[in-house]
Amino acid sequence: MKTLTISLLFVATAVLLAACGRNDVSFADDVQPIFDRYCISCHAGTGEGAEVSAYVMTDYNGVMTGTSYGPVVVAGSRMSSSLYLVVAGKTAPEIRMPPHNDESFAEGRGVMLSADAIETIGLWIDQGARNN
Ligand code: HEC
Repeated sequence: MKTLTISLLFVATAVLLAACGRNDVSFADDVQPIFDRYCISCHAGTGEGAEVSAYVMTDYNGVMTGTSYGPVVVAGSRMSSSLYLVVAGKTAPEIRMPPHNDESFAEGRGVMLSADAIETIGLWIDQGARNN
């Protein structure tokens, strides 16, 4: 009986460790590349998004600093983070990011992020929005 309990504990720990390891999102390796590819054409330098909202997404500090109204990331909660809400399509169409429909305020147009990319950003926020 004792052996069984101990081996069950072992299995539980292994499963837990595997789950954590698999889902650990890295800002530098997983998140910033998405921003580099789909966002900084507008959210850097004299880009439209940087000029209108003051949101500069070229590095971790800029991403966390947010817009002229304040931060758009609430570490630990994707559903409280407008960064997540605008990419996941959970806001009014006008402010979805990247802007990808006729109702967008922005002049430029992009395509909606893939479900994978959206989930990567969501997980990164839920895991504490670390600079890892
Ligand atoms: C074609 C240009 C363009 C691209 C590409 C773009 N943005 Fe934007 N973004 C804007 C403009 C313009 C604004 C300010 C006006 C607005 O809110 O629509 C803005 C505003 C924002 C805001 C502030 C929203 C608010 O009102 O709180 C966030 C967050 C944001 N963008 C995130 C992103 C992310 C993440 C990406 C890439 C996945 C992205 N943007 C790609 C142009 C762009």
